[in-house]
Amino acid sequence: MTKKMNILLLPGDGVGPEVCNEADKIIKAVANRFNLNILIEKDLIGGVSIDKNKTPITDEVISKAKSSDAIILGGVGGPKWDNLPSTDKPEKGLLKLRSDLKFFANLRPSICFSETSGASSLKKEIIEGLDLLIVRELTGGIYFGEPREKSTVSAFNTMIYSKDEIRRISEVAFESAMKRNKKLCSVDKANVLEVSELWREVVDETSLKYPEVKLEHMLVDNAAMQLVKDPKQFDVIVSSNLFGDILSDIGSMLTGSIGMLPSASLDQNSKGLYEPVHGTAPDIAGKGVVNPIATILSVAMMFKYTFELKQVSAEIEFAVKQALSNGYATQDIAQSNSKILSTEEMGSLISDYVQ
Ligand code: IPM
Ligand code: MN
Repeated sequence: MTKKMNILLLPGDGVGPEVCNEADKIIKAVANRFNLNILIEKDLIGGVSIDKNKTPITDEVISKAKSSDAIILGGVGGPKWDNLPSTDKPEKGLLKLRSDLKFFANLRPSICFSETSGASSLKKEIIEGLDLLIVRELTGGIYFGEPREKSTVSAFNTMIYSKDEIRRISEVAFESAMKRNKKLCSVDKANVLEVSELWREVVDETSLKYPEVKLEHMLVDNAAMQLVKDPKQFDVIVSSNLFGDILSDIGSMLTGSIGMLPSASLDQNSKGLYEPVHGTAPDIAGKGVVNPIATILSVAMMFKYTFELKQVSAEIEFAVKQALSNGYATQDIAQSNSKILSTEEMGSLISDYVQ
């Protein structure tokens, strides 16, 4: 038996509980197969926490998160809570969790599986074979910058980065590039924003430590266009919180379905929060049709980054590929000849393959 792994499951709202059930299944399957000592706890975040505890995340859940090794999250938010002020919205729970636990490094891979490339709105040849990693700064920038204010006549936010914040996310990006194709594109808006000028300077400074990595800077408007035009020109992209948020949504469409994309948010010690890139999809919640693969691949990322069990991670990824190449699909990635499965059926199939 390995040393004990404490995992906190925060299903949240909308389709969150459905995809987390399948993540739970996969964790149990690998625990069984590899004889891992895993303890899973479950708790509330987002709208369901507002309904029960009048806050999107309680201090108790924050401290549970602090004492766990990794967190798997489904999603937060939905129409029911959309009219709350932004300080009380379900999203605030997620932002507080990211910030309080210092999960500053958000890794969002965009990998295009050949079986799902037909589900993208882009031409197959543009995206087939794509393997891109977006490294998004997650605990700074305009999301958290002070001061921020809204009055009846105007409103403002502050986009602020310290050199230290830029340096540590740059290092994660360069390290990631070193393990891949040694190409990094840093995305900013340095033709307009001072904060981007500093960003560029610090990325350049950091690059001196990584002479093997080919570094390029790109303005965010151009990067958005280039991602749609020729995404395979990129290997690793690093950007600030807001730009990374936007670019990673583009990244998701490059793969065929946002339902396939996992993410990891790591602190300095590789403790992590793992979640699908997709949201709570209220329109399909409770129908048993949501694609659980993004969350299942997030579980694979957890074993790789937090627990450093590469084999377990590879095994989960392999099981997913097997399901796809055997022609199984959830409705979001279905082709004309696919065998369509429900959320639960897809989770069970992948967990059978894992075992
Ligand atoms: C994401 C989401 C969140 C973000 C929201 C739900 C606060 O869009 O994880 O990309 O903007 O970071
Ligand atoms: Mn987003």
